[in-house]
Amino acid sequence: MAVAPAVRRSELGEALRACRSAFIGVGLMSCMINLLYLTGSMFMLQVYDRVLPSRSVPTLVGLVVIAAGLYMAQGVLDLLRGRILGRVGTSLDEALNARVFDTVVRMPLMMGNRTEGLLPLRDLDNVRSFLGSMGPGAFFDLPWLPFYMAICFAFHWLLGVTALVGAVILVTLTLITEYMSRSPAKEAMTLAARRNDLAASSRRNAEVLVAMGMAGRMNKRWNEANEDYLAGNQRASDVTGGLGAVAKVLRMMLQSSVLAVGAYLVIHQEATGGIIIAGSILSARALAPVDLAIAHWKGFVAARQSWQRLNRLLQQMPARPEQTLLQPPTRRLSVEGVSMVAPGDQRLIVQDISFAVEAGTGLGVIGPSGSGKSSLIRALVGVWTPARGKVRLDGAALDQWSSDVLGRYVGYLPQDVELFNGSVAQNISRFDPEAKSEGIIAAAKEAGVHEMIIKMREGYDTQVGEQGSALSAGQAQRVALARALYGNPFLIVLDEPNSNLDSDGDEALTRAVRAARERGAIVVVVAHRPVGIEGVDQLLVLKEGRMQTFGPKETVLGQVLQRVAPPTPIKIVADAGAAKS
Ligand SMILES: Nc1ncnc2c1ncn2[C@@H]1O[C@H](COP(=O)(O)OP(=O)(O)OP(=O)(O)O)[C@@H](O)[C@H]1O
Ligand SMILES: [Mg+2]
Repeated sequence: MAVAPAVRRSELGEALRACRSAFIGVGLMSCMINLLYLTGSMFMLQVYDRVLPSRSVPTLVGLVVIAAGLYMAQGVLDLLRGRILGRVGTSLDEALNARVFDTVVRMPLMMGNRTEGLLPLRDLDNVRSFLGSMGPGAFFDLPWLPFYMAICFAFHWLLGVTALVGAVILVTLTLITEYMSRSPAKEAMTLAARRNDLAASSRRNAEVLVAMGMAGRMNKRWNEANEDYLAGNQRASDVTGGLGAVAKVLRMMLQSSVLAVGAYLVIHQEATGGIIIAGSILSARALAPVDLAIAHWKGFVAARQSWQRLNRLLQQMPARPEQTLLQPPTRRLSVEGVSMVAPGDQRLIVQDISFAVEAGTGLGVIGPSGSGKSSLIRALVGVWTPARGKVRLDGAALDQWSSDVLGRYVGYLPQDVELFNGSVAQNISRFDPEAKSEGIIAAAKEAGVHEMIIKMREGYDTQVGEQGSALSAGQAQRVALARALYGNPFLIVLDEPNSNLDSDGDEALTRAVRAARERGAIVVVVAHRPVGIEGVDQLLVLKEGRMQTFGPKETVLGQVLQRVAPPTPIKIVADAGAAKS
């Protein structure tokens, strides 16, 4: 390209560029609309200067008919212009929403919790709703201001000067609005985000709030956040509203001034009566978009800030390029010198872990609370990217897989099980729209939950409710186990899969681990209770983020048992580590 831009055009810019033809259309329509806006003043001019002196009713009727036609044309064009802009907003949203949703989901994994939550989705809403409002139309009309001014000057220079002074004052007012509303608008947006996050977390933890009488206190915090938000919003509205009122008054004053100047000219016989009225209407018309622009300035500033924020975010989290499809993994999981920090954090919570396991291996990961077990296995399934080192499946590092493809070969049961609002079957099949019943039932049987599910009121079609709240903790955990096993993944990673299970559940878990291993899967199980690691043959002991021991289960447990007499073997593993170091 001859004039290559210094920075690559942003994704948002690209999306907007795709709507270029719509904008050209809107521009052309604005031309016609603005020409048609002249109808009123021209009509007046003709009525005063032609119809009244000649007292000709047929001329009047003719003019009325013509004016009515022109007004209607203007109305239709105005309507079309509004609709096109509304649709530009919609198509922009359609082009970007999947990408924005993806960043919202991945943001906490990359940048931690100090991010803006759902704000990007609201930003996109802001941009869309501004495009659908009257605001953009006003911006298309503004460039016509000089044109109307020129016509005023053509009537008489004094009329032109009066209108020009008015225009200068109003444009200055617009600039002041811009300057003064910038920071209140930004502040209001941040406060709104904080308020909504508070509401969302209170809703999630409703049980805790009610049981321990925290609801009132949380209510108070919400109230405070809400008051801050309202005050911030009020400040933003006050600025634009106040200046909007001033603009309106000024415009009316200007209209009368133009009338007065016109009257003065008529008195001195420098103009006709028609020109007074026409000039007055024209100057009002010229400045109407300024009024409208000021009225929509708050929305404009919000949309622009949203636009900038989205741009920054999308640049920080570029779309992942299409990756070459690798063969499904079948042989080996290797971890090479992996160290991890939590997203958005600096502290190393897992350090320098290396091991490798072959297909058919069951690996138990044990260690005290906070030793980094969950963090380590988040790296195994590619949820967190290691700060150093690599996790590989059949030699290919996880970042060579796209997450959607990798997901087919991975089963993951997180420590805090959360199901999605939907049926049991949908949850097991990971919401795959093409899931077959056989696959779902096979996974449920492998997880040992088939019997439990068919005893439910509507079997596999039972709705699990929001976050799976309609199931008991144990039931949810077993459904989540079936979800992890669905589709016979090669790598199955279970973070404390038995924390809510009864002895039946424990047995089912052990059977599931063994069955998966027999068909050649690698199963990694984090466990606090010995029964959790019954189905595994290798053990990895973590302490304070470091790997203490790794090897065959019997050897590792044997080493531990030799040192201290156990209340529970696993507890000792951790203590033994302390003794060793
Ligand atoms: N999202 C996070 N942001 C910051 N620090 C984190 C995050 N998740 C975990 N940590 C820190 O990492 C350390 C290890 O946590 P991790 O959850 O891996 O422990 P764990 O061994 O799984 O413990 P448990 O047995 O209690 O589940 C803890 O000190 C914790 O504070
Ligand atoms: Mg954990």
